[in-house]
Amino acid sequence: MPTESQSPHLPFGDNTHAEWYGKDILSVKQFSRADLEYIFGVAHEMRGMVERVGTFDLLKGKILANLFYEPSTRTASSFMAAMQRLGGSVVAINEVKYSSVSKGESLPDTIRTLECYTDVIVLRHPEVGSAAIAAEAAEKPVLNAGDGVGEHPTQALLDLFTIFEELGAGKVDGLTITMLGDLKYGRTVHSLARLLTLFDVKLNYVSPEILRMPKDVMDEVSAKNIPQTEYTTLEEVLPETDVLYVTRVQKERFENPADYEKVAGSFVVNPEIMKAAKQEMIVMHPLPRVGEISPDFDTDPRAAYFLQMEYGLYVRMALLAMVLGKA
Ligand code: CP
Repeated sequence: MPTESQSPHLPFGDNTHAEWYGKDILSVKQFSRADLEYIFGVAHEMRGMVERVGTFDLLKGKILANLFYEPSTRTASSFMAAMQRLGGSVVAINEVKYSSVSKGESLPDTIRTLECYTDVIVLRHPEVGSAAIAAEAAEKPVLNAGDGVGEHPTQALLDLFTIFEELGAGKVDGLTITMLGDLKYGRTVHSLARLLTLFDVKLNYVSPEILRMPKDVMDEVSAKNIPQTEYTTLEEVLPETDVLYVTRVQKERFENPADYEKVAGSFVVNPEIMKAAKQEMIVMHPLPRVGEISPDFDTDPRAAYFLQMEYGLYVRMALLAMVLGKA
């Protein structure tokens, strides 16, 4: 990405957030509360624009490289839709086996290639730290769309935007947030727990013993003096929960398939279980789900997971506009 001195004059007057121009988005650790307020303000505007006009030309002439080494439905398609709704276009590499990666090309060389043709790169890759390696190789901004079991920062931003929009922006402080399921391999909960340390929240982690939240994430949360407690059953914490964040057990990350079979289906959220929860709370899930939320619950007003993925479009529109100097 360009240094401060290399940044060209920006065409939007006295915008005070021009510092986002050319920046990489690699980890939630790079955000402050003020940054979140700004990003969510832009995302809120994007929502209004999509509802009013659908598509507009803010990023006309800009091209996104969408490089996915792992499967994705939501992240890949929402980044593509975000760029297209902003009037830009997309080079999509969703099946790296059909690219020169299958001939042995390294990640840095693939990134250097794509930035010859495009203005911003979105990367999903199975290895922790891959987005940072890509950013090191690139002059153009790199957005981390998930690096193995590491982070998924744009997901955490859309998760928090969902909480802001559904429960009220001023109401995050004081919330009890319960994360349920595969907390070991779920990069979305790693990023969200870290991001929530910017607020005065209480975190509960409910998981099978072998899928507990990693120690490094818990140490970071603890260093910010955020209370966090581990449980093995949901019933203990459901009545006090304001946000129930459900995750899929990530079969593809298990070394031993027998271990997966032991914990698959450990938790299922359904209308019966949810009788014990508050009426004023929300249930979230990064999706895809594979049975951990019963479809019978989808029509409950507390089910926020489909709205959550819609909000991903607005947050990703905001991020693309920001790093390309147009927000
Ligand atoms: N939430 C999420 O990352 O979904 P996809 O894997 O479909 O992108």
